[in-house]
Amino acid sequence: MQDSGIKIVKTIDDMHQEATRLGLAGKTIALVPTMGFLHEGHLALIREAQRHGDTVVVSIFVNPTQFGPTEDFKAYPRDFNRDLYLARSAKADVIFAPSHETMYDNDHETFVQLKGLPDFLCGPSRPGHFRGVTTVVTKLFNIVKPQVALFGEKDYQQLAIIRRLTRDLSFDIRIIGVPTVREPDGLAMSSRNAYLSQEERLSALSLYQGLQIAKRMVTEGEITEANRIKEEVSRYITSHPYTKIDYVALCNPSTLKNINRVKEETLIALAVWVGTTRLIDNIVLKPR
Ligand code: PAJ
Repeated sequence: MQDSGIKIVKTIDDMHQEATRLGLAGKTIALVPTMGFLHEGHLALIREAQRHGDTVVVSIFVNPTQFGPTEDFKAYPRDFNRDLYLARSAKADVIFAPSHETMYDNDHETFVQLKGLPDFLCGPSRPGHFRGVTTVVTKLFNIVKPQVALFGEKDYQQLAIIRRLTRDLSFDIRIIGVPTVREPDGLAMSSRNAYLSQEERLSALSLYQGLQIAKRMVTEGEITEANRIKEEVSRYITSHPYTKIDYVALCNPSTLKNINRVKEETLIALAVWVGTTRLIDNIVLKPR
């Protein structure tokens, strides 16, 4: 299906054919996997993708296998026409939007699972989440056959896991991380921000501000003790209404293992419930 400049592909067979056709024409493919309800963060990935591939394919699929039984799969915001408009305005070439039935047969039984990286950060609170992500991303890699795929640093652990998956399974795909796009006041853009009430939106800003406190502690205060930083950040965030900390972690940016002292570049990552919405954010701390 063609929609003034953007091609909409809905089945795996059609996407295989499109990928083969592009390959024969000597065009490289850059893939931007998304779950839709696009925002400026997604659009930054799409724009960056144009620098790395001749054809930009954006996949839109709310992947059921990465949601836990009590999570927001059903409620996850969806607006295909709006996504189409935004993807077109960011100059994507192809939208791959498969149905649930297209992606998962009733008797689907193959999953891709990493052994270590999913155990950190978001892993414990979202059992099975990364297994769903790595399974669907593996399928998308096989279906779209990209040379390049782009992921946001906002989901830092996801990006680390995809890099490991790509290396371990020898996908001939270059993985590119794109910096987090934020609202003017600093809140990381997320499709889930749509769930926030006006008051919750105010409290949600404390995630970014908490990260900035950590940054100042390290760069200006020269504080290196991870526990002190975590305590200060947690105290600041929980002083805002509706917030409940899931975790605040300081860890090695490659292994995601906890660190006790900030001696070199350190990832500070956090997940916080704001009302019934779970938000994540992170920055890399660079000690002087
Ligand atoms: P989704 O949450 O829709 O995000 C799609 C991509 O956009 C991810 O790579 C994510 O890191 C990136 N992204 C989201 N918010 C961003 C922001 N504020 N700045 C920069 N990039 C941002 O992540 C998923 O979907 C899914 O898990 C998926 C990889 C598609 C697998 O189902």
